Amino acid sequence: MPAEKKLMTKKMYLEQLRQFGSVIDQAQNDILRLGYHLQPPVGWLNDPNGLCRIGDDYHIYFQYSPFNAEGGNGLWGHMTSKDLLHFQEHEPAVYPDCAWDQHGAYSGSAYEEDGTYYVFYTGNVKYTDKKYDYTTAGREQNVILITSRDGYDFTEKELLMTNDDFPEDMSKHVRDPQVIRKNGQYYMLLGARTLTDKGCVLLYESSDLRHWEYKLRFTTADTFGYMWECPNYAEVNGQGFLIACPQGLPSQGLDYANTYQCGAFKLDYRFGETDYRIGGFRELDRGFDFYAPQILQDKQERTLLIGWMGMPDSDYDNAPTLKNGWQHCLTIPRELYLTKEGQLAQRPIRELKTIRGERHEEHFSGTFRQNVPLLFDMELDFEKCESFTIRIRENAVLTYDKDALLLDISRCGRGRKTRGVHLQNIRNIRILSDSSTLEVFVNDGEEVFTTRIYDSMTDLSCEMTEGNAQGSVVWYELQP
Ligand code: FRU
Repeated sequence: MPAEKKLMTKKMYLEQLRQFGSVIDQAQNDILRLGYHLQPPVGWLNDPNGLCRIGDDYHIYFQYSPFNAEGGNGLWGHMTSKDLLHFQEHEPAVYPDCAWDQHGAYSGSAYEEDGTYYVFYTGNVKYTDKKYDYTTAGREQNVILITSRDGYDFTEKELLMTNDDFPEDMSKHVRDPQVIRKNGQYYMLLGARTLTDKGCVLLYESSDLRHWEYKLRFTTADTFGYMWECPNYAEVNGQGFLIACPQGLPSQGLDYANTYQCGAFKLDYRFGETDYRIGGFRELDRGFDFYAPQILQDKQERTLLIGWMGMPDSDYDNAPTLKNGWQHCLTIPRELYLTKEGQLAQRPIRELKTIRGERHEEHFSGTFRQNVPLLFDMELDFEKCESFTIRIRENAVLTYDKDALLLDISRCGRGRKTRGVHLQNIRNIRILSDSSTLEVFVNDGEEVFTTRIYDSMTDLSCEMTEGNAQGSVVWYELQP
């Protein structure tokens, strides 16, 4: 039987918060706190959840464990923002306080209609009896609905589906609902693992948002990992993409280098029909810390993508922030777009330009050196580029030699070493630095590297030390 203990009610949260004052101060005074990324007020953060826009405010919820920076409490933290660069903190929106979600209010998303926000999430229940494997037994994953008109006050939890409502060949891992409307019906995507360890995304259909019927599953002909977490369907310039986080892919050269992967399949599917065509998988990010992203359909009709800047079960860590009572952050929001070749690419949101300070520029041939502050936005445009070595900040090194671009942060990575991608040419690179993060966008965001980095944070520079690259470097201090 599941344990009866509720992981955390609102009352427990408020009581613990009172006793936690000094840890909150310590976390918030940490020099590693970020300037323009969403970070937990204190404690642990993972997936972004329920992204939506209400009036002038973006609402960003996230997997949150305020009193344990190593995770585990499964609340939904809550922040709002007008520009996705400055954030206001609010009381958590969802607590794991009922029988259906007592071991974690896991990930989920928001769907808006007529001013009502329907928030679907996974209630996680883990039985205490150690005889279970927690994959085929000993766990419940429930689909729960709450609704809100303002993003702050939510209705009572409604239980919509339990494991009994999933196909018979599913393991107990079925979670992370995303709901969309297509061709006059509602559709729900759920990440899943079958009993034979094949990752897939289940598709359910509904005409009232409360009663759901199984329609089909999206998967690949050959098994591609044992579990696909956090599915998102996105349409960019009319092309459908299935974003998912497959677990259990062996690494292949420079590909699939992290513990778990995150990427997108091209998906041609007319919702309602029984056939679909799924294309190849492309990783969304080549760095160390990128997982469980969610899309946000903006009122300006942009499709934004925000990821968790972290990686579950990795062999590297964030000990420097952990020591001060907090861990992890979200990525800079990226606008998704389609390249001329029909490839999905990401560019940092244009709002970043509003926090740019003074402009610096240099034309270079082979080498350059620029002293930089901690928070900066740098653009390199190449006229010629066959090889280079660029040292970023203190000890991060980006090298390119004919066909491989490598990011090596072994000297400032807390166990993070090298990640890379094969590229035939490099046209441009954009580097975003925050106190302890780096996001590197290559060739207009066709490839991205996202990582936490830990260096001395003073007397920083960016220096091209070798190679035959020619072009210009332009950079701005960022002033949040
Ligand atoms: C992804 C994930 C989700 C789950 C959540 C729990 O990082 O494992 O599948 O809902 O985290 O925090």
